[in-house]
Amino acid sequence: MRRPTRRRRLLTALATGLLLVAGPAVVLRTSPARALNNGVARTPPMGWNSWNTFGCNINETLIRQMTDAMVSSGMKDAGYQYVVVDDCWMNPNRDSAGNLQGDPTRFPSGMKALGDYIHARGLKFGIYQAPLDKTCAQYFNSYPGATGSQGREAQDARQFAAWGVDYLKYDWCSPTGSIDDQVRAFAKMRDGLAAAGRPIVLSINSNSIHSKTGPQRDWGDVSNMWRTTEDITNTWNSGQTNGYPMGIQNIVDVTVPLAARAKPGAFNDMDMMEVGRGGMTDTEMRSHFALWTILASPLIAGNDLRSMNTATQTILKNANLIAISQDPLALQATQVSFDGTRRVLAKRLANGDVAVALFNQGTAATTITTTASALGLSGGPFTLRDAWTNATSTTTGAISASVPGHGTVVYRVSGATSTPTPTPTTPTPTPTTPAPTTPPPSAGPCQVTYAISSQWPDGFQAEVTIRNTGTSAISGWNLRWSFANGQQVNQAWGGTYTQSGAQVTVTNASWNGTIAAGGSANFGFISTWSGGNTAPTAFTLNGQECSVA
Ligand code: GLA
Repeated sequence: MRRPTRRRRLLTALATGLLLVAGPAVVLRTSPARALNNGVARTPPMGWNSWNTFGCNINETLIRQMTDAMVSSGMKDAGYQYVVVDDCWMNPNRDSAGNLQGDPTRFPSGMKALGDYIHARGLKFGIYQAPLDKTCAQYFNSYPGATGSQGREAQDARQFAAWGVDYLKYDWCSPTGSIDDQVRAFAKMRDGLAAAGRPIVLSINSNSIHSKTGPQRDWGDVSNMWRTTEDITNTWNSGQTNGYPMGIQNIVDVTVPLAARAKPGAFNDMDMMEVGRGGMTDTEMRSHFALWTILASPLIAGNDLRSMNTATQTILKNANLIAISQDPLALQATQVSFDGTRRVLAKRLANGDVAVALFNQGTAATTITTTASALGLSGGPFTLRDAWTNATSTTTGAISASVPGHGTVVYRVSGATSTPTPTPTTPTPTPTTPAPTTPPPSAGPCQVTYAISSQWPDGFQAEVTIRNTGTSAISGWNLRWSFANGQQVNQAWGGTYTQSGAQVTVTNASWNGTIAAGGSANFGFISTWSGGNTAPTAFTLNGQECSVA
């Protein structure tokens, strides 16, 4: 009972035509950007969803079996948590008080009982709903009723909370509405869930039966995760830019440029996975999973967990890749290089390691090469751990692999721990007795670039570059500045921060502590602001004043 394909194609063609007339679909605006402060999805959510394999053909027996299989297959132990019931669970009629209810034939025990069953096995309960009048299946007349949440957001949020729902997939399912209408509608459910008082992951899709607004703004202000594209299918490349259906390559192409939007509580959703559903080679299935992990997409399996073969289990339970996905910094890999075939993506990790994906988009095997310094690493030697084979090797900087067509080699690059920092042991100058009045800092060999990359009503994100303008390496650094308007840093990457009053000090991470002469180090942070957000104009590096670019 999938949606009628012909009608879908027609809509897609119409949408594509409109996009061609309107120009490029991807508008990379950098604001407003924030993450919901609802305490959930601090790393990309992991789970299973019924839609890819079962479409509308769901019932409570199936969902219970899948819950059991999540546990018995070891998926739960690998980190998968959410069991998400997609479209077609609902009674087409609300009750006399206007409450949603489960379909009495499909879910005779009710949705609360299903939630209890899932919770009793240590897992979490996800459910599907739509913000306007109809779900997607209802829109396409493949399921009766019009049970969307429009006008009943708070009531439905309370109902979900009462059922023990932990994750809500909220799917636009209409050709109508501007992007601002979408933001307003999603925000109503965000606020409804907050008022209902249960921490619930809000997963939205703005693209269904609509022009593809997923990549057009940062949806972190109204959701924990947002679909970047039209629906996925189990094929490598469908030839679509962002239309129905999307192959793995097509989703990667749309999502790579959106890296800056990922952060704890807020993720680009590349859609439920097709791993284990056929239609692709093992190499392609591995690439699919590897790319979803390094790009910090939620990992929502879409296969039948009751009948997974060994190859599928090897992919979905790969502990090295899951650790990269679930890293607490929650960054999405950024593109290091791309020549049209060979794509290098790198994701910084909390312990100072960097995960790098060498992705071959071509059909023939090729060697893909990068360097530790291109990944922002200095020092060395470095250890490379191959995420698929678990084999380790050592390099002083060159990173390369022969990668099969459509393959992805992933290395975890560590240097900090194994790096006996060959820095000359410069004798630490004996601290002089502090002068009674602090003299102005002397000019140091540094230049600072401070850029606000996005700003929203009560917060902002900034990226800072420290350039070593001197002739010898800087070995270990802290950068200090004062804010003029009461800004308060609450998260940093590429360095650790402390703030005392207005004064902020950021100290290097283990992997970017050495700045070669002429080289640079980067870090970023998120801060609150109100009243004013004047950029600081004076910075000291290790106590010496830097020029400001
Ligand atoms: C849309 C969504 C899918 C699925 C279906 C259900 O197409 O994008 O993921 O939820 O609706 O009808």
